[in-house]
Amino acid sequence: MVWVVEMVCPFQSIHEMMNSNNYRPNAFAHISTLNQQVIKANYAVRGPLTVLAEKIQNDLLEDSNDYPFGDIIYANIGNPQQFGQLPITFNRQVLSICQYPALLDHANEPWFKSIFPRDVVERTELLLKETGSVGAYSASQGIPIVRKHVAEFIQERDNCACHPDDIYLTSGATQGARIIMTLLISGPSEGAMLPIPQYPLYGALMDLFHGKSVSYYLSEKDDWNVDVKQFKQAYEEESKKGTNIRLCVFINPGNPTGACMTEESIEEMLRFAKAKGLVIISDEVYQNNIFRKEFTSFRKVLCELERREPNSNWDKVSLICINSVSKGQFGECGQRGGYIDTMNIPPITKDQILKLATIDICPPVTGQLLVDLLVRPPREGEPSYGLYSQEIEKIHRDMEKQCQFLYEATKRMKFVTCQKPHGAMYLHPKICLPKKLVREANEINIEPDELYCLRILERTGVCLVPGSGLGQRENEYHVRITFLAKGDEYVERFIEAHNTIMDEYED
Ligand SMILES: Cc1ncc(COP(=O)(O)O)c(C=O)c1O
Repeated sequence: MVWVVEMVCPFQSIHEMMNSNNYRPNAFAHISTLNQQVIKANYAVRGPLTVLAEKIQNDLLEDSNDYPFGDIIYANIGNPQQFGQLPITFNRQVLSICQYPALLDHANEPWFKSIFPRDVVERTELLLKETGSVGAYSASQGIPIVRKHVAEFIQERDNCACHPDDIYLTSGATQGARIIMTLLISGPSEGAMLPIPQYPLYGALMDLFHGKSVSYYLSEKDDWNVDVKQFKQAYEEESKKGTNIRLCVFINPGNPTGACMTEESIEEMLRFAKAKGLVIISDEVYQNNIFRKEFTSFRKVLCELERREPNSNWDKVSLICINSVSKGQFGECGQRGGYIDTMNIPPITKDQILKLATIDICPPVTGQLLVDLLVRPPREGEPSYGLYSQEIEKIHRDMEKQCQFLYEATKRMKFVTCQKPHGAMYLHPKICLPKKLVREANEINIEPDELYCLRILERTGVCLVPGSGLGQRENEYHVRITFLAKGDEYVERFIEAHNTIMDEYED
């Protein structure tokens, strides 16, 4: 959809603009003089539908609005605290003192002790000692003690050696992905294998860097596993065209699919990457959002292969795993904390990763502190352990319950099928859209599932992501919906509107 751009540009063409009376337009004045890679990039999670949702939200503030609903449900984005999920108490206690260390002057007063348990004070003192002020820039690679704790966490999780130098703290997962793609992709002859469907960050970055996205499909009927045959075929076909495929991205657990990759599948992908010299990015931000199956990290499997098959060049496979404080039970999306852990990266390349991190100066320091809390939660026996565990478990349970509820609800929707996710925060149902709706969408030049989402938004206030923005097979239509919003009222609204739309458009 291009209407957002067209609305703000008063000229039909750059020539019309140049001829208009005695000024030389600057490069912002017309879309053709902007970076065309930016124009090409598409980030459906916050696309035109979200813009419309925000407009409707403003309209809803007017008494005279005639929408048949009172609020917008932003089910388009995995932003837990927007849906009222409370922050973890321990996290905010530590951050509060880090933001305002003068609180420690009252550490012996009863009111202070009633708010801040002893382990909060100890943790804060340690972090402040290492960090100084949260208002100061930190090291570009990240606060050393936090990197040390991340390395320890990974070592314990995967039974695999990890060094603090392998860790780069980032401003959310997004910066980590951007740094690595910046290093590898600089033009149309350079390619990356990207999953379809896909959280659209990676496709958008490929567009920005003018690289060649090579789609590999996740097989819906096979629980959204990688379609290995098609994966290899897509690689070979694109390579034959002369594209130098350098990188392969996996999202595990998947967004939007919610699928956990099996150990066998990870191993198969690692073998392929080794044979073809592909760098792997494994985006593992949903590793703590698992309801069925188990999460296995790429790092763990690579370590096991190195042990099982020594001298087989496994140490030549470069792996980047990404994690974030935005997901899991923290849901601290706005604090922008994350990290990449790297494996088998030569020192010359590490220097360049660091250079890119240096250009961004440093990730938000409070985001880095949250990473510390993510990888080093209160331990059993410490004062905060009980409340922390309760809060984490409750958030996990509530999400699982809402996932189950929404999944069951899809069974009451006409022409809808849905794979039950293993985890993450989304359902990705397939909708067999009526031909009449598809024709109407074609006539107004938008994707059919986008038109469907538009109708749902207008009638229910529920904002979804059309599958076309995340990639899907031709003539298939999906929508992504988060199960973060609690309650059943909006779900009933959604089901009713869906079934009505299906009836209205019936051929
Ligand atoms: C798979 C995946 N990776 C990365 C991100 C971005 O996360 P962050 O907020 O840490 O940048 C998201 C956000 O939804 C995501 O789903």
